[in-house]
Amino acid sequence: MRKKIVAGNWKMNKDYSEGLSLFSEVLNMVKDEVRGEQQVVVCAPYIHLHSLSALAKGTNNVFVGAQNAHQEASGAYTGEISTGMLKSVGVEYVILGHSERRQYFGENNELLAKKTNTALANDLKPIFCIGETLAERESNQHFDVIKTQLAEATFHLSAEDFSKLVIAYEPVWAIGTGVTASSAQAQEIHAFIRSEVAAKYGAEVAENTTILYGGSCNPGNAAELFAQKDIDGGLIGGASLKSRDFVDIVKTFN
Ligand code: G3P
Repeated sequence: MRKKIVAGNWKMNKDYSEGLSLFSEVLNMVKDEVRGEQQVVVCAPYIHLHSLSALAKGTNNVFVGAQNAHQEASGAYTGEISTGMLKSVGVEYVILGHSERRQYFGENNELLAKKTNTALANDLKPIFCIGETLAERESNQHFDVIKTQLAEATFHLSAEDFSKLVIAYEPVWAIGTGVTASSAQAQEIHAFIRSEVAAKYGAEVAENTTILYGGSCNPGNAAELFAQKDIDGGLIGGASLKSRDFVDIVKTFN
């Protein structure tokens, strides 16, 4: 059975003490809510990761993730953080390919393929983001965009390595805009992603791939989105910054 995940992406928000409070509140509220194949992942800025990992240690199903990592294992890259460093402080997941990294930091599929390799080599699980812009959807290119992002950045992997990825579909037009993809629009793309994975790696790998939806997901729309056959949870931005909203989204699975 594939994992069901609700992951928070705090982006560049929360100073050290705010982050500790938010995570402690979330932990207290979710510890009795998350069971079986369900997981909660909090992807926080680097300064929080060591402390949050220590807090998450006693739980079975709550994990900490980073929002980026460098593609090289180590070296003269001033200001950067390596996947090995992340692993050394207890981080389990890393978001790669987020549209904000693609848009503001020029990350392309070739670079993201390298980052994916380095993350996997250091035993971090990538939450790999893909998604089309509004212009691409309006010109009916969304399926091609998704197909290319997947193929160029992840389809070089062996089936064993691909199975360690979580895929997140985040239509760029739905991120931080309050405009969510309808459950039908999201399901259509999720089913397409699963079919692409099946064509490349076979039905079993596809069936076991966790595919999250991200983009203005909130306590009011999560239940309908997560009820779709190919939607296995969410990658939550704004609503992950309020413990009550985030936990209400987590509870949607119960
Ligand atoms: O990675 C999460 C994300 O980009 C969605 O953000 O604020 O629309 O939930 P938001």
